[in-house]
Amino acid sequence: MTQPKRVAVTGAAGQICYSMLFRIAAGEIYGPDQPVSLHLLEITPALGLLEAVKMELDDCAFPLLHDVVCTDDPTVALTKVDCVLFVGAKPRGPGMERSDLITDNGKIFSSLGKILNEVGNPDCKVCVVGNPANTNAYILKANAPNINPRNITALTRLDHNRAISQLASKAGAKVSEINQMVIWGNHSTTQVPDISYATINGKAASDLVSEEWAQNEFIPTVAKRGAAVIDARGSSSAASAANGVIDHMATWIQGTPDGDWVSMAVPSDGSYGIDEGLIYSFPVQCKDGEYTIINDLDVSDFIKEKMMASQQELRDERDTVASLLSA
Ligand code: NAD
Ligand code: LMR
Repeated sequence: MTQPKRVAVTGAAGQICYSMLFRIAAGEIYGPDQPVSLHLLEITPALGLLEAVKMELDDCAFPLLHDVVCTDDPTVALTKVDCVLFVGAKPRGPGMERSDLITDNGKIFSSLGKILNEVGNPDCKVCVVGNPANTNAYILKANAPNINPRNITALTRLDHNRAISQLASKAGAKVSEINQMVIWGNHSTTQVPDISYATINGKAASDLVSEEWAQNEFIPTVAKRGAAVIDARGSSSAASAANGVIDHMATWIQGTPDGDWVSMAVPSDGSYGIDEGLIYSFPVQCKDGEYTIINDLDVSDFIKEKMMASQQELRDERDTVASLLSA
């Protein structure tokens, strides 16, 4: 029998996970022929709620779900897993920026990073979701030097999907007709949604929508969509975030379609003048479980200036958490 892939998930009794776990158990990350085992981590007071989530997972009788471990012990959750989805962290409320969460949430990532460093599989794939996601991933990477740093990533696929949806709606196109969208930078309001290379049914998007719309409506709408959802819902995006995580992991593992790419926040390799090691969103192609940054796009002065502003925000966040960066 095929050995199950072991997927650890933190914050497993929270909002995002209530949408996400059932899709992982149905095979949406590793595909329809691969059994999975779920290692679900929560803080002790949430273990009762986590047990209820496990009851519902059991009641779905998913053929691919091999077993479910519920625990408040990070060592149990993180030992020798194939991937870790770090969701557990405080969400922001109305009027807050994601960076306002940095002091409380940063500590979670330094402490879990140290444990992952001790018990983790060095090749495990990591996706950080808890905000501020890029800097939390940076903290995790600094605290887990035994884990392949290339495999420590953060989620900007939700922003990528939001950008596709906004462009499709403006152009009167289907989302499936849009390729080569890009999100540069931080998962914050400085992110740079960029349609410069996007195509709609093979035609340049920039010929089909105005530059004025792309610069003054599209960018701020996508960059502030998280806050718009909070205002409308009273709490932060959950189902669409869960969908972004599934897309991020499934693409990384199963690959990008020919002629397309996706956006992932990954450690910079210096491409486009971004400091090496910063967790920055780039366009990437994925094949055989590896991603490659697309490093040869021509970037306009308008976009470049915004990319550098997002880099500066990440540098400032990194300086704020300096005390959490030693392994
Ligand atoms: P939530 O409050 O519903 O759930 C978070 C869960 O994490 C809670 O059940 C809590 O008990 C648990 N938790 C807290 N500390 C933990 C720890 N140390 N170990 C394990 N579990 C812990 O929040 P949510 O709506 O699921 O959002 C989770 C995070 O994801 C937030 O920080 C939110 O801002 C972020 N988020 C990111 C994106 C993105 O695109 N990157 C999108 C949406 C939400
Ligand atoms: C989002 O983009 O929806 C999340 O990061 C949640 C938030 O705080 O906006």
